[in-house]
Amino acid sequence: MDTKIKMDDFELNPEVLRDDVYILTEINNEFESIYLNVRAKEKRIYTDNELINLPFPSNNNPHKKEWNIRAKSYNRFKEYLRQKKDNLSILDLGCGNGWFSGQLSKSLNHNFYCVDVNLAELKQGRRVFNSEQIKFIYADIFTSDIPKAFFDVVIINAAAQYFTDFKKLINHIFTLSKTNGEIHIIDSPFYLETEVNDAKKRTEKYYQSLGFPEMANNYFHRSIWDIKLLKQSGYNNLRFYKRPEQRTPERRNRWCK
Ligand SMILES: C[S@@+](CC[C@H](N)C(=O)[O-])C[C@H]1O[C@@H](n2cnc3c(N)ncnc32)[C@H](O)[C@@H]1O
Repeated sequence: MDTKIKMDDFELNPEVLRDDVYILTEINNEFESIYLNVRAKEKRIYTDNELINLPFPSNNNPHKKEWNIRAKSYNRFKEYLRQKKDNLSILDLGCGNGWFSGQLSKSLNHNFYCVDVNLAELKQGRRVFNSEQIKFIYADIFTSDIPKAFFDVVIINAAAQYFTDFKKLINHIFTLSKTNGEIHIIDSPFYLETEVNDAKKRTEKYYQSLGFPEMANNYFHRSIWDIKLLKQSGYNNLRFYKRPEQRTPERRNRWCK
């Protein structure tokens, strides 16, 4: 498969388009299949009509309360971006169905590159947010031909916990970012060092109760130290936003399995 792209502009080769999603990496169905089964069981696969308005849910949305919280993160980030110049190159890594970039693209003029390894939701995102400003890309960022020093902003929204090695992830993203590029980690759970073990146990129990114990092998618990250590290593443009619901243990237990 020819996955060559023009490095100075991230011009994606139309020959690798499948259902309007750019495929830069060999498809691996193993993770996607477990992940989508879990999403379905959790009632997190949305109709196109629901998706187009997220993070502003309909009254029927089973996760309405959660989306109300996520809408706050979204609004905050949107206001932050609004203060910046136009036409930034933004990588939305682990974009899922693309709601975050999709919604931002309705009112902000940037180029969004939505990357994931979940083809079904990438296709849905493409279908729902069908704008020239957004590209949906199936890619393993570690092995794909993604241009270096290209992105102004990298967003990892509710996805940091799915990458095996957080430090490796951040190191790699810095190679993809411009010198003053920013990494924004949004709505991803980070625990106190002392809480990690309990959180792991809760995760195992949770996925077992759903009937997909193997999903626990794809979910990694980050500690706040991970962020502190990276910042101490000089990663100053790393922005880490605590989810509002992480502020009290009671709420944390509800969100962070
Ligand atoms: C909980 S969803 C978050 C989706 C969306 N960003 C949001 O904020 O709702 C996590 C996403 O990370 C994706 N993901 C997991 N591992 C990944 C990887 N190695 N590369 C890219 N995406 C990945 C999953 O496929 C999934 O779509």
